[in-house]
Order: sequence, then structure tokens, then C-alpha cells
Amino acid sequence: MIITGKYPNLRLRRNRKYDWTRRLVQENTLSVNDLILPIFIIDGKNKKESIKTMPGIFRYSVDKIPLILDKAVKYKIPMVALFPYTRKKFKDKFGSEALNEDNLVCKAIRLIKKKYKDKIGIMCDVALDPYTNHGHDGLVKNKEILNDQTIEILIKQSLLQAEMGCDVIAPSDMMDGRILKIRKSLDKNNFKNIQIISYAAKYASSFYGPFRDAVGSKKSLKGDKKTYQMDFNNSLEAIREIALDIKEGADMVMVKPGMPYLDIIKQVKDNFKIPVIAYQVSGEYSLIVNGINKGLINKNSIIETLTSFKRAGANAIVTYFAETVASKLSSN
Ligand code: PBG
Repeated sequence: MIITGKYPNLRLRRNRKYDWTRRLVQENTLSVNDLILPIFIIDGKNKKESIKTMPGIFRYSVDKIPLILDKAVKYKIPMVALFPYTRKKFKDKFGSEALNEDNLVCKAIRLIKKKYKDKIGIMCDVALDPYTNHGHDGLVKNKEILNDQTIEILIKQSLLQAEMGCDVIAPSDMMDGRILKIRKSLDKNNFKNIQIISYAAKYASSFYGPFRDAVGSKKSLKGDKKTYQMDFNNSLEAIREIALDIKEGADMVMVKPGMPYLDIIKQVKDNFKIPVIAYQVSGEYSLIVNGINKGLINKNSIIETLTSFKRAGANAIVTYFAETVASKLSSN
């Protein structure tokens, strides 16, 4: 680090004196291109249902998706991420609904692709937890979450989503060997151009609570996910996870949750030259919204948090604030 001069000759406040000079020396800028918008889908017709644990966020029935997609396309949000709320009656211990071509995610992909073509990207999780009655991301046998047997289903789930028109497959179960096997079967089935975002450093976190409520897996989850999601005491292990997934063929990697893991984003960015996605998860969202609603912090805190991801080195952020922030940024 080179510092030329010292006080009183050197005054760092000079560059901060007016708005124009602050804009001039700005190192990071948040734009709409940085945002990925998550959408919760529910069955039925004509539904826009609020979610108690996530004020301001809704579950949409497939026919109502244009309510939110019209805005996303207008603001030029690059991509949406789809998450289904699956009714209990469609869940079983194998997560069979994942392979139903008329499940909520498949229906939503078809509608979005038909109506919006390639104006916006679609990203879909590949994991079984929305569909299993025990709430785990994989098959369970004698309390063990099975690694190798589960991947066979995930391959089929990936192919199905690709066939429906999904642009980006996002394996999110944090188990071993997902990326290579999914990449290979996508290639073999003529889906060479489908991208893969690996949830490569996803931690077993307390911040997922509101999401599990939003997708209806909270009550069903038996135990925790510590045998597959990462231990929050570790950071070198995240680098290993990321290195492996890059080697297996990931096009982008994700770090999740977001704010408590800015150090991981930074380390990933410093170690690998690959696009890094941050996920500002449901618990982070709800804390901030509750803080704003109670008058403890003001609305600018939203952009402040999203900019912290950019500073740490994220290329884009999955955030429940995407629509609000995009609308603000495009009115500037
Ligand atoms: C499931 C999944 C989770 C989230 C996204 N995909 C939660 C989990 O692992 O239980 C959490 C997102 C959020 O909290 O916003 N594979």
C-alpha cells in the first residue's frame, strides 16, 4: 500500500466533500444487472398469498406469475429463481414429485419461457427437499442421507428442468459429485449450453427459517442438515468445495448465506476467477425488513447490504429485495 504524504498536506476528506466527488471516486456500484429475483410458486388459480415470516413477499399461483415477471422484465432483472411450495399430499420419502413434468416448477418454466422467451433467465434448484416428507435434500436410509442413490434422481430432475426450458441448473444439496454427473448427463442429452450454478459453499445455517416456512418444509424437516451443508466454523473447507465444483464443470459458484459470510465471498473471489453469486437468504431479508418496519434502521440499509456483496467480490446477488431495489434503481 502506497500512501503519499501525510496530514496536514494529505486530507482524505477532500474526496468526500460533495456528492459529485463521492460519485467520482466510487469503487463499487450496485446495478439491476446484479440482481436475481426468487419467486415462490403455489398451486391453484388466481392466488397471491402473503408469507407471514417474510413481510412483502408472496407466493404466486402459476397463472399469476406475470404479475411479478412483467416488472422483472421491465426493470431488466437478468434472472429469476423458482421455488415451489409443495402440498403435503404431493410429498413422499423419495421426493417423487420432483420428477413430475406437471409439478409447479415445470409449469412455471413453461409459462415464463412461452411468454417472455429469452428476455429473462430462469434458474432452478436441483434438490429433493421441497418434495420429501422428511424435509431432507436426499433419500434417507437408517437416518443416513444417501449420497450416491440421490444423485440418480437429481440427474433426472436436471434433465426434466432443462427439457422444460430452464436456463440455469442449480444443484443445491451440498452433497458430493453432483456437478460432474449432472454436467455429463446434460451434455449427453444435447443440453450442452445449459449453465450450472453450484451452491458450492452453502452452510448449515439458522438464517433459512423463513424460507422453509415459505416453501412449507419447516414442519416436515426431521433433524438438521449438518451432514451435508457446511459447518459455519470453517472457511478453508469452502475453498475446497469450490475448487472441486469448478473442476467438475460449474459455470458459476454460490456462497450462502450472504452477510455473515462476506469473508468467504472475498476468499473465493481472490482464489478463483469465476463468477461468484451471493445469496442474501430469507432470515437476512426478514431481519432487515422487520428492522425497517420497526423504525430501527432506514430503507437505505437495503442497498448498503447489497453493496457489501459487491465489495466482497460477488458478481450477482440472489435477494428477496430484487424487485424493490430494481424499481428504485431504474427510477434514479
Ligand atoms: C433448499 C434451499 C434452501 C434455501 C434455498 N434452497 C434452504 C435449506 O437448505 O433448507 C434457503 C434460502 C433462503 O433461506 O432464503 N435446498
